[in-house]
Amino acid sequence: MASIKMNENLYDLSAIESDCWLKIMDGALQSGHPFHQPVFANTNTNGANMRIVVLRKASATEKTVSFYTDIRSGKWEELQKNQSISWLFYDHESRIQIRLSGKASLHQNDELANNSWANVNINSRKNYSSILIPSTEINDPKNISQQNADKTEKNSEEGRGNFGVVVTNILWMEWLWLNPGSHYKANFIYDKNGDFTSSWLVP
Ligand SMILES: Cc1cc2nc3c(=O)[nH]c(=O)nc-3n(C[C@H](O)[C@H](O)[C@H](O)COP(=O)(O)O)c2cc1C
Repeated sequence: MASIKMNENLYDLSAIESDCWLKIMDGALQSGHPFHQPVFANTNTNGANMRIVVLRKASATEKTVSFYTDIRSGKWEELQKNQSISWLFYDHESRIQIRLSGKASLHQNDELANNSWANVNINSRKNYSSILIPSTEINDPKNISQQNADKTEKNSEEGRGNFGVVVTNILWMEWLWLNPGSHYKANFIYDKNGDFTSSWLVP
């Protein structure tokens, strides 16, 4: 995993920005990576709403991060009303925290969603094919287990109609490194071309 070391790059904000994106992209690609399951937050009428999601894709060029979800879930409806999103990543070993915020775009019936669905394996497709809407109250959890066990390759397309991709266009990133000697913090503000201005912050 690429990481900023105590070297000449330490005080180079551009190098830090690149390194953050390398880590995030690694997180999307490697299931064991500390950034693979970040916290994703949006707002609803009660305030902040957070949960873990699997990071599915990240692009340093486009400044985007994406996850998959069931379009019947609460978050999808909330994101239709308010597209503001925050992300939280932490790598315990290197003691690096990255926070992102940006705007969501929702994809359900387009090429991006079709291509993403094509990459969802049969076993994971059952996550999108529950008969009842996610978070519906139920009396007996055993019924859900049985329904999942019945899913096969033949009916794996059943979930497609419930499958959606949330892409976040990142507008702000903050990097915090709890280096034992001295802590460091910086932020990066992106314009619509993905170019950024950056500053050091008091950690
Ligand atoms: C390790 C882990 C990974 C998860 N990955 C996803 C995911 O990729 N997409 C998703 O919608 N929910 C995922 N969930 C479930 C969410 O955390 C959340 O419980 C669910 O999406 C309902 O959220 P909502 O009611 O705010 O929509 C994951 C949960 C855990 C614990």
